[in-house]
Amino acid sequence: MIILGIETSCDETSSAILQIKQEKFFLLSQTTYSQIQDHKKYGGVIPEMAARLHVPKILPVIQKSLDDANINIQQINAIAVTNGPGLVPSLIVGIHTARILSILLEKPLIAVNHLEGHLLSPFLNHNIEKLKTPALCLIISGGHTELILINKINEYKIIGRTRDDAVGEAFDKVAKLLGLPYPGGPYISKLAEEATEPINFPKPLIKSNDFDFSFSGLKTAVLYYIQQQKTLNDKLKANISAGFQNSVVQVLLHKLKKAINFYKPKTILLGGGVIANKVLRQELIKLEKKIQIPILLPELKFCGDNAAMIALASYFKYKRKEFTQPEKIKAIPTLTL
Ligand code: KG4
Ligand code: ZN
Repeated sequence: MIILGIETSCDETSSAILQIKQEKFFLLSQTTYSQIQDHKKYGGVIPEMAARLHVPKILPVIQKSLDDANINIQQINAIAVTNGPGLVPSLIVGIHTARILSILLEKPLIAVNHLEGHLLSPFLNHNIEKLKTPALCLIISGGHTELILINKINEYKIIGRTRDDAVGEAFDKVAKLLGLPYPGGPYISKLAEEATEPINFPKPLIKSNDFDFSFSGLKTAVLYYIQQQKTLNDKLKANISAGFQNSVVQVLLHKLKKAINFYKPKTILLGGGVIANKVLRQELIKLEKKIQIPILLPELKFCGDNAAMIALASYFKYKRKEFTQPEKIKAIPTLTL
């Protein structure tokens, strides 16, 4: 069977064609148009502008994904679309397009939780048979920092979350303090490679007795540190970037290890834009060797927002026949797992 996936929850207009044969996933194509250049000058995503930019792109992006997959739209068996969490004006563009396609083509419509997309994204490049439960998943993106216990697909329990800023948000805010462009994560991690003496910043909640996170105090510590400096040259910026990144990586690893010890998962999954971070990936590869439990990372192209993960997540809903009537589908900005 073939699924058309659509994702417009934030500032990426993405469409993917996923084929499923004998429970194996084959991504035939994916087209993603990023609006980052347009939002960069404002230092963040402007929701209303994001929606306006999705409108002229959504159909050409879908058409390109069909062309690249060399399939006709009639060959599609189902249409999957993100219905939350995300920015309502942006979500509506994808939802409305999917609804019209579903009605015109008379194909089932599947509403997908964006977080479930990130959670299952490692299976775009790892065989789904590797999922042994209980499993643990850490989702780290611009809007989310969540540790999730997976009993089976569709049975999720959030065991830890951020009490304030999401990890990606902290990267973006610290980047702003350093005068780096939006989104800051990739710039911070690049600069950190030049560091000679990383600054020692606090590691928030590392000793707390739960699986929660907090990153706003760390961002404030970076702010105070910057305010105390006379000048902010490139060398100092690199040392601040590396220090901040070290704190984040150590806190994430510490909490993940703590959850592994407590829940004894058989598989560990990672998802979200921040998992593109090189140092974090290296540390996770080391951890996997040490604990001998598979830690499955999404390929770089599946870390950020993408329609392939939405199409993949929708397949399990398709099997359960969890369809949404086109006239009833709604954007839910605060949708949870
Ligand atoms: O998953 P995503 O594309 O969008 C959301 O659903 O939020 O995540 C975007 C976030 C941004 O905050 C961005 O700065 C961060 O992922 N990010 C990174 C890296 N690449 C992207 N953070 C740290 N290191 C990176 N290499
Ligand atoms: Zn996302």
